[in-house]
Amino acid sequence: MKVSSVVLKMSAAVAAIAAAPAAAKILMAGDSTMAQSSTNIQGWGTPFANYMSLTVVNLARGGRSARSYTREGLWDTLVSQIEPGDYVIIEFGHNDGSSPASSDRAATFGSGTETTTVTLADGTVEVVQTFVTYEKWMVQDVLAAGGIPVVSSTTPNGDAWNDAHTEVSEGNRFVPYSMYAAGNYTSQGATWIDHYGWVAVAYEDLGYDNVYPALFPNDHTHTSPEGADVVAKAFVNGLKCKGHALANYLTAAGTAIPKVCS
Ligand SMILES: *[C@@H]1O[C@H](CO)[C@@H](O)[C@H](O)[C@H]1NC(C)=O
Repeated sequence: MKVSSVVLKMSAAVAAIAAAPAAAKILMAGDSTMAQSSTNIQGWGTPFANYMSLTVVNLARGGRSARSYTREGLWDTLVSQIEPGDYVIIEFGHNDGSSPASSDRAATFGSGTETTTVTLADGTVEVVQTFVTYEKWMVQDVLAAGGIPVVSSTTPNGDAWNDAHTEVSEGNRFVPYSMYAAGNYTSQGATWIDHYGWVAVAYEDLGYDNVYPALFPNDHTHTSPEGADVVAKAFVNGLKCKGHALANYLTAAGTAIPKVCS
């Protein structure tokens, strides 16, 4: 790293610290499991705002993957709203599987710099990256704007349990992929919240019969408002267990959420 870029990064960091108390807000990027809904399902970003004393701007959008959120410009719209010191929570994984050849939201398989070139229905040629590449780009953009990236693993489906219904199953590949995206930028302030794991703890505490289909009125992916609240509380619990800076910005309701770290 050149000295000039070190100095630039240091002054950006100082500016971020100075600006944080006044400007800090939380921007959220994700899919329907995070997005505000006006139907019988709800995304966790909505109840999450009740637990944070910072302004929460939930820019999650149903049906999106890390790839389509990027391609459609939704990510650029979010980046344009980042002020130094803002936190950006990034959580994808429900719409990122399948093959880029057949899905305009599927990422290229793998966790490195692999790409696939596809032609979309409208004739556009798109170079499709891996999920990790899209999330690393997001982390880089947040850092470049003076923000603080918080990469979160995807949420478990309601029916993802072992046969005995005693434990939530291990997450899919997008869980470690999200960890890599944060892990590559830990020294620059990125953190990973294993939301999947914390929701699993919460679901196991409730028990299968109180989770599925109790909290999943339509399908195995989307929660009821009550389910969204469980998922939001699990995220706050994850912040507390991690000792994350965001745990310093809780409302009374957020503070009251029990801390369960094992
Ligand atoms: C960085 O990302 C790569 C995948 O692109 C991953 O294999 C590696 O484990 C990551 N490093 C950390 C520290 O997370």
